[in-house]
Amino acid sequence: MKQSFAATLFFVVSALGGVVKDKPSSSGTATVNIAKSVGEATFLGSNFIYGFPDNGTEVDTSIPDYLVTDIKFNACRAGGAQIEAPGWTKGGYEGYIGRFNSTLSNYRTTRKYGGDFILLIHDLWGADGGSGALSPYPGDHGNWTEMETFLGQLMDDIKANDMLGGLVMDIWNEPELEIFWARSWTQYVEYYVRASKIVRAGLPDTLISGPSMAHSPSLDSEKLKAWMASVSGNDTVPDIYSWHQIGVWERQLDTTIPEFDTLREQYNLPDRPFDVNEYAWTSEQNPANSVYYLAQCERHNVRCLRANWGGGSDLHNYMGNLIYKTNSTYYPNGEWQLYKYYAGMVGNRIETSASSDLLFDVFATISENTVKVIAGTRTVQEPYEISISGLNVLGLPTSGVVNVRTYRFDWEGSQGEVNAPVDLGCAEHTYSEDTASNPFSVFRT
Ligand SMILES: *[C@@H]1O[C@H](CO)[C@@H](O)[C@H](O)[C@H]1NC(C)=O
Ligand SMILES: *[C@@H]1O[C@H](CO)[C@@H](O)[C@H](O)[C@H]1NC(C)=O
Ligand SMILES: *[C@@H]1O[C@H](CO)[C@@H](O)[C@H](O)[C@H]1NC(C)=O
Ligand SMILES: *[C@@H]1O[C@H](CO)[C@@H](O)[C@H](O)[C@H]1NC(C)=O
Ligand SMILES: *[C@@H]1O[C@H](CO)[C@@H](O)[C@H](O)[C@H]1NC(C)=O
Repeated sequence: MKQSFAATLFFVVSALGGVVKDKPSSSGTATVNIAKSVGEATFLGSNFIYGFPDNGTEVDTSIPDYLVTDIKFNACRAGGAQIEAPGWTKGGYEGYIGRFNSTLSNYRTTRKYGGDFILLIHDLWGADGGSGALSPYPGDHGNWTEMETFLGQLMDDIKANDMLGGLVMDIWNEPELEIFWARSWTQYVEYYVRASKIVRAGLPDTLISGPSMAHSPSLDSEKLKAWMASVSGNDTVPDIYSWHQIGVWERQLDTTIPEFDTLREQYNLPDRPFDVNEYAWTSEQNPANSVYYLAQCERHNVRCLRANWGGGSDLHNYMGNLIYKTNSTYYPNGEWQLYKYYAGMVGNRIETSASSDLLFDVFATISENTVKVIAGTRTVQEPYEISISGLNVLGLPTSGVVNVRTYRFDWEGSQGEVNAPVDLGCAEHTYSEDTASNPFSVFRT
């Protein structure tokens, strides 16, 4: 190692089971190419849906600021679901205004931290899961009057309460699931087109997102194709394309982004930003899987928000299961520590690739002469390798020795307090051909 070389390579291993050295075989290799920067790190995945307590219509300050700012939180998504007020269709104006108040409180808390706020229209309507086929939906019997009155009221309240800064209007959540939309797809698509036109006309400078489908895009999705055809034909393309990536069965952005783009081009839709406005199944909410999702989001420049599996008042708390509390004192869990490390990955993002089986992934940044890498598997417990090339960018010779500091992120469940990652210390790794390969392998339980 050159004497003048002051950098340390930080490899961060997200693993519950620990670091396995001298393992017998590898299930695959993820790569990091230090020579290729791919834009500034902006913490695209430090976000969650709901997760802030309600305080009437005001900012809620129960969660200490550091728990929000240390992870560089930058977006929330809410609309007053799962509270006593049932929403517009079941409670009329009174049922609606309770949900609006909750939304406004969450909006103000989000804005206090400079975050964007994605507003869930379906929750204010009162379709927050399982309201059933007997509940009214926009456009029933071909009558759109109620929906127009509702959107008019909502937009008036948004303007009256100065909620336009950082606002995104999300047209409907998971419309292909009967629990959120117990009507035909045709009726949904017509709703989407009509609601987009109304919101565009009423709030001309506000961003619109959609279709926020539960299933990630795939080439054979007839519903997505019907939506695309209609928004294309009616000039109602959203400002942000959105969907959910929840569970291994929905694959991952490495696969779903190219398929979305193929369909997008077939329907002559423009290239626009993406939001994955819910990510990770419950059993995928742990440090290793979160690294996996963060790596995918960062690679494809997608803003991503953690799904929130809390119900009732728990939905409106705990920042999407990153923190918990005993009595009234909040504390971080093991995943929060991972997000805190991620928030410290400043500077430029580096080109990476997942293992060929797409079950192991890495995210990496470079700042001055320090490279940070986080790595995690998608639920599987198998050994994998990381290959890091382009070490000469750090002023290193073609072969030599590099310092690697490793941390492990433990997980004690969503309510288990974890106050720091485990520092596994600094070790020298020999490398050659400008590439540090197989410095260790990781797995998780
Ligand atoms: C709720 O809002 C009020 C009014 O702004 C404020 O005085 C109070 O501290 C807030 N409560 C919490 C828990 O944030
Ligand atoms: C909503 O908030 C307003 C303003 O604070 C308040 O007057 C009203 O009672 C609240 N309504 C409900 C149902 O929470
Ligand atoms: C359409 O819905 C509105 C609001 O619910 C109602 O007042 C009106 O009578 C309905 N129109 C028809 C033709 O049924
Ligand atoms: C516009 O949207 C309506 C409602 O979904 C649909 O019936 C119609 O086919 C669309 N028009 C075009 C040109 O795609
Ligand atoms: C929580 O409060 C109760 C009652 O004041 C007390 O007995 C208990 O020790 C507290 N728990 C913790 C973990 O501080």
